[in-house]
Amino acid sequence: MAPPLFVLLLLCLAALPRDTAALTRRDFPDGFIFGAGTSAFQVEGAAAEDGRKPSIWDTFTHQGYSYDKSTADISANQYHHYKDDVKLMYEMGLDAYRFSIAWPRLIPDGRGEINPKGLEYYNNLIDELIRHGIQPHVTIYHLDLPQSLQDEYNGLLSPRFIDDYTAYAEACFKSFGDRVKHWVTVNEPNIETIGGFDGGVLPPQRCSHPFGVNCTGGNSTTEPYIAAHHLLLAHASAVSLYRAKYQATQRGQIGITLLGWWHEPATNSSQDAAAATRMNDFHIGWFMHPLVYGDYPAVMRSRAGARLPDLTVEQSNKLRGAFDFIGLNHYLVVRARADGSTFNLEQRDYYADAYAIANPFDDIQEGRLEYAPWALGKLLDHLKIKYGNPPVMIHENGYADASELPRKVEYEDDSRSEFLQDYLEVLYLSIRNGSDVRGYFVWSFLDVFEFLFGYRSRYGLCGVDMNSEGRTRYVRNSAHWYSGFLKGGELRSASSPGKAYAAA
Ligand SMILES: *[C@@H]1O[C@H](CO)[C@@H](O)[C@H](O)[C@H]1NC(C)=O
Ligand SMILES: *[C@@H]1O[C@H](CO)[C@@H](O)[C@H](O)[C@H]1NC(C)=O
Ligand SMILES: *[C@@H]1O[C@H](CO)[C@@H](O)[C@H](O)[C@H]1NC(C)=O
Ligand SMILES: *[C@@H]1O[C@H](CO)[C@@H](O)[C@H](O)[C@H]1NC(C)=O
Repeated sequence: MAPPLFVLLLLCLAALPRDTAALTRRDFPDGFIFGAGTSAFQVEGAAAEDGRKPSIWDTFTHQGYSYDKSTADISANQYHHYKDDVKLMYEMGLDAYRFSIAWPRLIPDGRGEINPKGLEYYNNLIDELIRHGIQPHVTIYHLDLPQSLQDEYNGLLSPRFIDDYTAYAEACFKSFGDRVKHWVTVNEPNIETIGGFDGGVLPPQRCSHPFGVNCTGGNSTTEPYIAAHHLLLAHASAVSLYRAKYQATQRGQIGITLLGWWHEPATNSSQDAAAATRMNDFHIGWFMHPLVYGDYPAVMRSRAGARLPDLTVEQSNKLRGAFDFIGLNHYLVVRARADGSTFNLEQRDYYADAYAIANPFDDIQEGRLEYAPWALGKLLDHLKIKYGNPPVMIHENGYADASELPRKVEYEDDSRSEFLQDYLEVLYLSIRNGSDVRGYFVWSFLDVFEFLFGYRSRYGLCGVDMNSEGRTRYVRNSAHWYSGFLKGGELRSASSPGKAYAAA
């Protein structure tokens, strides 16, 4: 029997999205985690203290290659201020703090002995978080490769990296896995490899003519694919070790975190649509395809040919399904155009293979790229449709302020709050539409040394006076806004009513 008309009407009303202004954290799924993050090299400082040895990023910054010629020797000095920082997180109401362990602090030579002072520091930080009810979400490797492994065997270019990485990861599981329930093996392998081995703009600055300048040796046509291959295999090796020896007792989850640019066709032409699909396959599929289907995307095989390493049956089996969740760091939209000019070069690099244009890094450094909240929705849809809707953690999303300092009222950052609210609305809609997102972390908890911009870009919910000896922290308006939301308040305050829902 058909339901009476008024019941149908009621059902329709119930299915309407709630008013944006009234969205609260209770509208997100049970157990959804809200946090903020940093990474070791960027936030800790104490670069040469208590037995820590250099990473490739220390070498790079000491040679004056960072954007503003700065180093992270002191940075926000969290190594000495972690208690103050945990207190700030607690007051803000964070469910979780995402941070990374510095390999060159825990195992300064890359392999071998654990540094007791490093062990003590991370134990203290983890215990302090747990004492305040804040979950530690820990990245094992976040770009800061021990320099000794670079010197010894060219780091990521050697399969020896896989064994050293696995032993380091095991030291982390053994030392901290009783308390850490969320592990990320590798952060942003899809940018580390092209920045470090193709354009050569990031350490270890390997590249070859005509694809890079100031190269320290290298081969842009082959090395990005080799480095990525070893990172993938290292990831799979750590996951299978964790699953075999630790997961049953420690009951944690393990995943990998990718940079999540979204490539959107620049026009409605079918050529640009095809270019965008290809670029997303090179950017996301490079790692997702092997992890879900056991091999690189077909378009990568056809365009990179023999330069893309083969996967043995055993490797492929080990990769397939080797994650409990996928982390995404989402910032930018790249407008995809089919009309590349460099693709016919006799020698090609990753950029020519993927983009058929010159290095888009130039655009990033010039700050010419675009932000758009809808792109996060498209990225999540892409993962849902193409890769079987894996559990996702948004591990980074945030707003950079690059205005000149000192500003008059430095804590006034309402544009940051607006920005984050726009993304949280899209995130909410994606979850309603079936995406399995489990958590969201603002980048960053504090101002830190930014890998691409030094101290020029400030992403922090909390600011740090980088010129004061004590690296004084101050709470920005965005931190107050986030805190209000985390403590049950409405996403949009009355003063920022937000955009129309239907537009999303
Ligand atoms: C290459 O090195 C030269 C000389 O040190 C420097 O002026 C230039 O900025 C460097 N280029 C890049 C892209 O790093
Ligand atoms: C890079 O490697 C490829 C394949 O081995 C080789 O053909 C090419 O000459 C190398 N390029 C450089 C600059 O060494
Ligand atoms: C694509 O087509 C739609 C409708 O046909 C139009 O509204 C939109 O502006 C077009 N987009 C671009 C980028 O040309
Ligand atoms: C919802 O998800 C479906 C696929 O599951 C997708 O086709 C559609 O575009 C999504 N809608 C929105 C509004 O994101």
